[in-house]
Amino acid sequence: MSLPKLKIDTLTAQLPIIQGGMAVRISTGALAGAVAKTGAIGIIGASGMAFDELRKEIQIARERAAGGIVGINIMFAARDFIGVVQTAIKEKIDLIITGAGFSRDIFKYGQDGNTPIVSIVSTARLAETAQRLGASAIVVEGKEAGGHLGTDRSVWDIFPEVKKAVSLPVIAAGGIINGAEMCKALKLGADGVQMATRFVLAEECAAAPEYKHRYQTATKDDVVIISSPVGMPGRAIKTAFVEKILANQAPRPIGCDFCLKKCSLKYCIIQALINSQKGDIDHGVVFSGEYVWKIKDRSIKPAAKIVTEILQEAKEAGC
Ligand SMILES: Cc1cc2nc3c(=O)[nH]c(=O)nc-3n(C[C@H](O)[C@H](O)[C@H](O)COP(=O)(O)O)c2cc1C
Repeated sequence: MSLPKLKIDTLTAQLPIIQGGMAVRISTGALAGAVAKTGAIGIIGASGMAFDELRKEIQIARERAAGGIVGINIMFAARDFIGVVQTAIKEKIDLIITGAGFSRDIFKYGQDGNTPIVSIVSTARLAETAQRLGASAIVVEGKEAGGHLGTDRSVWDIFPEVKKAVSLPVIAAGGIINGAEMCKALKLGADGVQMATRFVLAEECAAAPEYKHRYQTATKDDVVIISSPVGMPGRAIKTAFVEKILANQAPRPIGCDFCLKKCSLKYCIIQALINSQKGDIDHGVVFSGEYVWKIKDRSIKPAAKIVTEILQEAKEAGC
């Protein structure tokens, strides 16, 4: 089987791989641009970014992408969701991927700005709704994913249901950690895969060395589910702060700026993500997919090398 190109609306990516958006500031313009240059799709994690910062990151990604496809990911749960969408469309972003809740309004903005909207869903019903409202593609995300989770079901169970329910391109996400898993998804009829955890160990990933080190040392038992004040569970690697969350002893937020539409205020997830991105992982949450420990070579290398390795693994698996 030769690898298919990934077509979303009028865009054609040479490789059927989307590097999943990662907030806060884990996938910035540098990583998205480096991935886009390889022929895959690079995504900036825009949640938690100010509008000016997002503009700058989109420019950085563009400069590095050499004409490749660059998008943003924004959580519906973010209070300034629509402002981020409008900023990205004004900057002529190639596509917008949205998850962690469902917005009907975004499709209108996408149509007005001629920008494809890709919905992350975890059920066939939501995939159908997204298609009806005007989505250009669907990302089906299973419980194996990193970050906030919309389901406790495996991507391998949900994917066939979604594929049957819609006629749009369907992209599988969650726990697809190597080319063999990508090949498996493509053989099941996926039009592409979204991979995030694998790209954290890229040189261009903006996470601090301490954060990446946690990825390099994590064992199977270190990967846990926490409850997030957003109102969804999240998947993360154990840190001192994560242990506190698990024990219900995480400190309450100080100086909250109400950045989320809804927040339980149990602790500040955004500050915890900012802390870990900067290297203070003892006071932070390190989001990760379920299978971080399965990455064969956990050394830090250029994103282009990671893509080459994924393609080689896929080839060995018969793709
Ligand atoms: C560190 C990290 C941060 C993430 N942040 C976001 C985010 O801001 N928005 C989102 O929709 N998904 C987010 N995700 C989910 C990924 O985009 C992706 O769909 C998922 O992790 C895929 O599974 P994998 O990591 O096993 O490849 C995040 C994942 C990780 C690992």
